[in-house]
Amino acid sequence: MKSIDINKITRPHILNLKPYSSARDEYTGMAGTFLDANENPLGSATDENFNRYPDPYQWEVKKALSPIKGVNPENIFLGNGSDEAIDLLFRAFCEPKEDNIITLPPTYGMYQVCADINLVEVISVPLTKDFQLNVEGILDAVTPSSKLIFICNPNNPTGNKLDEQAIIKILDEFDGLVAIDEAYIDFSDHTSFTSLLSAYQNLVILQTFSKAWGLAALRIGMAFASKEIIALLNKIKYPYNINQLTQEKALESLKNVSKKEKMVNEILQERAELIRFFEQLPLVKHIHPSHANFLLIKVNEPGKIYQYLIEKLIIVRDRSKVMLCEGCLRITVGTPKENNDLIEALKACE
Ligand SMILES: Cc1ncc(COP(=O)(O)O)c(C=O)c1O
Repeated sequence: MKSIDINKITRPHILNLKPYSSARDEYTGMAGTFLDANENPLGSATDENFNRYPDPYQWEVKKALSPIKGVNPENIFLGNGSDEAIDLLFRAFCEPKEDNIITLPPTYGMYQVCADINLVEVISVPLTKDFQLNVEGILDAVTPSSKLIFICNPNNPTGNKLDEQAIIKILDEFDGLVAIDEAYIDFSDHTSFTSLLSAYQNLVILQTFSKAWGLAALRIGMAFASKEIIALLNKIKYPYNINQLTQEKALESLKNVSKKEKMVNEILQERAELIRFFEQLPLVKHIHPSHANFLLIKVNEPGKIYQYLIEKLIIVRDRSKVMLCEGCLRITVGTPKENNDLIEALKACE
């Protein structure tokens, strides 16, 4: 159980900010003659009409998401990818050149990039050799100006899940926000931390439609947190951050949960197939356990294999220069045909 005074950790000018009030903020009814937003009343220069501004708070999507995630609509923020939510956390809570955040490399690169864009110092506390949290190191690194700790679970690029008790200790001990990025949670047997939202006011959970739901091109991500935190993110986002088409398609996907689950199961089966294959391949020295839709494998000559695969038009991610990932390639689980092409190429490389 953890309560925090959100006003104390929010940037003062954001607390005092008078946000932009859109036409759709001021009149929220659906019926009427809409002469309030300077839209084109005739239609669009396309077959379908997109002449009206979309719902700024995406309530239909949030209402459909709520029972699936077990989170109230008021505790949900939707962003232009979860990357938008990551950036807004900086803008709401981190004072440039004063505050800092804590990252746990090797991890998702956007935490560092957003920190750099927002001129916020990053304190890095590397994961242990087995890619787990160095809890004491993290808590020791905290300063009075530490606002956010980003924990990616399952972690990208390592693919493993993190120890739940270690995360809970950080939630218990840290007085800033703990952002748990669950982009890959659907591929894991790890249950989401959403069940702890009411117990921890310092918890922010990030998820995305880009992976298991298969909607990367639409750009829509989720943040789950206390009503106060969600209200702050809403206060500083662009007024209509999720376009109409994306809202409609996200809603459609939420009515089709079984398709998402079927795809996840297929990807998990393919992941198991790839592991079986890699186990027999002498050039693969180690396969890191994965709770995501990718595998991190250690090979002898990562740069050479990466280039060889490029020549075969098979693109993987060379992570061999990343801390603790020396010698490693990150390979996304593809379709059976794509995986087979990879397997045939690697067999020929031996
Ligand atoms: C850990 C993690 N978080 C967030 C994202 C970004 O997700 P989105 O497409 O929702 O911006 C990614 C994308 O690869 C990711 O790996």
